[in-house]
Amino acid sequence: MFMMRRETSLSDKRITVRRDGEERVIEAPVGAGFLSLLKMHGFPLVCCNGKGTCGRCRILFEGQRAPLPVAADRIAFSAEELRQGYRLACMHRVQGDCTVRVEFVESRTVEAVTDHGGGIRDGSAGAAKDSGAANGGMPGRSAEYLIAVDLGTTTVAMQAVAADSLRELRRGGRLRILGEYSCMNPQRRWGSDVISRLQAAERGEAGELAEAVRDVLEEGVEQLCGELGGRPESIWLAGNTSMEHLLMELDTRTLGRYPFTPVCLQEMCLTGRQGKDGVSGQEIRLLPGISAFVGADITAGLLACGFAECEDGECRLFIDLGTNGEMAIGRGDRLICTAAAAGPAFEGGAGVNVPGTDMIALLAEMLEGGVIDETGLLQEPFFDTGWQKGELRITQQDIRGLQMAKAAVCAGVELLMEAMGTDASRIDKVFLAGGFGYFLDVEKAARIGLFPPQLAGRVTAVGNTSLLGACLYGGEESLREKAEAMCRRAEVLNLAEVPGFEQKYLERLNF
Ligand code: FES
Repeated sequence: MFMMRRETSLSDKRITVRRDGEERVIEAPVGAGFLSLLKMHGFPLVCCNGKGTCGRCRILFEGQRAPLPVAADRIAFSAEELRQGYRLACMHRVQGDCTVRVEFVESRTVEAVTDHGGGIRDGSAGAAKDSGAANGGMPGRSAEYLIAVDLGTTTVAMQAVAADSLRELRRGGRLRILGEYSCMNPQRRWGSDVISRLQAAERGEAGELAEAVRDVLEEGVEQLCGELGGRPESIWLAGNTSMEHLLMELDTRTLGRYPFTPVCLQEMCLTGRQGKDGVSGQEIRLLPGISAFVGADITAGLLACGFAECEDGECRLFIDLGTNGEMAIGRGDRLICTAAAAGPAFEGGAGVNVPGTDMIALLAEMLEGGVIDETGLLQEPFFDTGWQKGELRITQQDIRGLQMAKAAVCAGVELLMEAMGTDASRIDKVFLAGGFGYFLDVEKAARIGLFPPQLAGRVTAVGNTSLLGACLYGGEESLREKAEAMCRRAEVLNLAEVPGFEQKYLERLNF
């Protein structure tokens, strides 16, 4: 009996592999990893051996729906490439017959990983990869550059950008990205959420938590310097308030409990400790934050979206969707920020490993098809078993997770508008940030009520604004001063203390 089941589940699938005009068929069992399979069949690759950090194991799924992208795919490929079917071979396993085109990147170029979010300051500036044409094919070699770091709870991303292109950016030029590096945040081993890490710090493991991140920062800086030659002019890091506190080994006890008071929200400098000379011999400067829940990553995002220099009369809204939905509204000199707990719904679904963007699209489809009603309730015959879409089964619990997250964000947006004394009809621009925002189908998000429907036509999905903001902050002193002034004048709205939040939240639970 056991043998029969095993034979059925491991029946070989046909993988048609294409490369350089040649085609061959490999047979492999369900569950075989694409990277090891391809290496075993004569497609050698020097790579990070499946850590998902080097971005060299590119494959393109042809002629059929590619597997859902995982976080490493989303860092390695642009939205357009993901739509075309590009994935990292090391992140996926054989599920059925398929055709893949092997596009392994053999040499150590700095083009491997990307998630740049340029082109958003007033809609005029842009980001471009350095083609290397001016440097004999070596992207960025001998250029003067600075390094920006986005220290996220889940991932650490770094970009080296040409210093001269930063200076040109404000005159309508394009940002030249010379090299990139990314990896998962190693603090994940203490827990994927911030609270577990704050608890670990309180248990006396603060030093290890900080060292773990310093190690990957050093690795990233060394890799970029190795590719580009020389040393960066400076290194600028933006992270949420907890990540920056953990990196600096600041006391986090007041950060994890009411009234959630940070030790420091000013610009900080990571220099040497215990005889060391900073990370990789370089100082790293940390951008200032606004509050315990609106950190330096949001300062960077707001800077990238022009909030430090809001034109009089223009009203802008910024929404960064992750585990926390951070939001800000700006008009003239006034800036009001808030954050709403969104849970895991926007970063991989609650019970299923579905990226939040896909979950939103699926929910819109379920609503339109009558699979769920306006309250989010699964209709018969799906009520007990959930709704099956391909290999995914969406349950009532998955739906509720996203419903609560979108209600918190929508209620937060409405309260921000009220605090600013305005309404949706008078918002000029809406910037939707975060890896999530970059892939979001704005129409579908409006359909499920992620934000007030009147805003849909004014939403721009801007992707990772933290890196671009850190570049801008580091690249120009005048912008640095404006960003610091913006942080000082920012008002913070604590949603839990705003009368009417709960009522609004409950009202926005429906689709
Ligand atoms: S092997 Fe490095 S990203 Fe896949």
